[in-house]
Amino acid sequence: MVAVSDPILEVDGVEKYFGGITALDGASFDVESGITGLIGPNGAGKSTMFDCITGFRDPDGGSVWFRGEDVTGDSPSAVANRGVVRTFQIPHELPEMTVRENLALAPRDQRGESLVASWARGDGYYEDEQRAQRRAVEAAERFEISHVLDTPAGELSGGQRKLLELARALLTEPDLVLLDEPLAGVNPTLEERILDHIQTLAAEGYSFLFIEHDIDVIMEHCQEVIVMHQGRVLMRGEPEAVRTDDRVVDAYLGGDAE
Ligand SMILES: Nc1ncnc2c1ncn2[C@@H]1O[C@H](COP(=O)(O)OP(=O)(O)OP(=O)(O)O)[C@@H](O)[C@H]1O
Ligand SMILES: [Mg+2]
Repeated sequence: MVAVSDPILEVDGVEKYFGGITALDGASFDVESGITGLIGPNGAGKSTMFDCITGFRDPDGGSVWFRGEDVTGDSPSAVANRGVVRTFQIPHELPEMTVRENLALAPRDQRGESLVASWARGDGYYEDEQRAQRRAVEAAERFEISHVLDTPAGELSGGQRKLLELARALLTEPDLVLLDEPLAGVNPTLEERILDHIQTLAAEGYSFLFIEHDIDVIMEHCQEVIVMHQGRVLMRGEPEAVRTDDRVVDAYLGGDAE
């Protein structure tokens, strides 16, 4: 049994290079249950870190552990099957498909299972399909996007798109959801709703690693904050300690203005 205090996710010395650019320079941190913030100036390596954790990119060095198992270099579907999914800074839903279709496909899509493969499995297909349709409707209700179920995803507002992404991620029944700027381009009303959903889900036992530039949002919603700068972890701590730390202030002033 895993003790409650054991980290869910452990990132150990992860490196990532793009040609001559060092995106991740040996970054290490642990994530425990609850809502953990991940902040840092533009270009700090936050999104690249999500890519390396969730298998969308292979790290050039270091390792990633989920509940004590090495998942370094595993495919996105293998990582999702273990219970770690992510949303994207730029949403990845299929714009020509409706919300309903996007939601019905979500679990298979996130796990890299093609429709053809599930068809080829035979007998269970129709039951699976009916279940997927039922769950799509339930997810739309839960995330308050029922009224746009038959709207192509490409026609949604920025906020509705983020809700769809959150719903899609949750359909895989994850333990840990990595949220890459879930509030970017979202109007204030929907922003509150998305934050309420995250809080409710956290109370139900889901954990989140949450990239967000608005420090007030981080202060209000996160128990712990990890600060990245230039591909490394600059510090971690409780929100108040992070907000007042000179190194963090310097990193933001020295980097691009936020
Ligand atoms: N595909 C890529 N090719 C080349 N360089 C990249 C690529 N992706 C990221 N980088 C570089 O890696 C560094 C880290 O980028 P990353 O997107 O991870 O930062 P970030 O912390 O998410 O920034 P932001 O807050 O602006 O989203 C930056 O210098 C960026 O230019
Ligand atoms: Mg980013």
